[in-house]
Amino acid sequence: MFGPTGPRSQEYSRLIHESGAHLLDLINSVLDMSKIEAGKFELAEDLFDLEETAQSAVRFLKIPAERAGVALSLSVAPGARLAFADRRAVKQILINLLSNGVKYTPPGGEVRVTADVRQGVEIVVADTGTGIAAADLARLGRPFEQVENAEVRAKEGTGLGLALVKSLAGLHGGEAVLESVLGEGTRVTVRLPHAAVNAQGERLAPAKILPFRAVS
Ligand SMILES: Nc1ncnc2c1ncn2[C@@H]1O[C@H](COP(=O)(O)OP(=O)(O)O)[C@@H](O)[C@H]1O
Ligand SMILES: [Mg+2]
Repeated sequence: MFGPTGPRSQEYSRLIHESGAHLLDLINSVLDMSKIEAGKFELAEDLFDLEETAQSAVRFLKIPAERAGVALSLSVAPGARLAFADRRAVKQILINLLSNGVKYTPPGGEVRVTADVRQGVEIVVADTGTGIAAADLARLGRPFEQVENAEVRAKEGTGLGLALVKSLAGLHGGEAVLESVLGEGTRVTVRLPHAAVNAQGERLAPAKILPFRAVS
């Protein structure tokens, strides 16, 4: 090792690392949102292990959750372990929702992730946090929309997280639904439809699936 390694320099290293990670996250969110709005975000869809991806998203939030005194849990139904989607987008969806859950849940609370098979894959991230007032709920999910109160302003954020979740789900032909009760908690349900896949392994969006043509 070079230089001092006392608790103070360890604390500085940690702060520098966190600031860098935070900036990178910010830049990536702004870039992704710009790409989506310009219609230039291309999904890279493939079969992947949803459970492993969800585990890695949960690991990413493990330390912030511990610091916030919030418990994280994950449960992936056997039928939902394999998904066909853009793995990076799904991981981003999970990280955005988990980080909101951790950020807006007081100590002693819980953030729970479940993945199940409905008409496609259904991912739910539910927390026991502050919740969102009905009047604010409709507004959220558009870029840069945040709830205006002192508590939220005290927590850093850009208001891009939910907008990205919605857009990324939408690009898959799916949706993200936000439900919340003030003082009780928030639940976000992300539905990614089953996709037809062609011989090259590319996803066919429902609208692009052509009917059989009669050949005479
Ligand atoms: N799980 C949640 N519990 C309570 N409020 C939430 C939750 N998720 C999002 N919000 C509210 O929605 C706003 C927008 O969320 P988001 O788009 O992720 O932006 P950011 O986290 O950067 O503020 C947040 O500022 C917060 O007011
Ligand atoms: Mg957020």
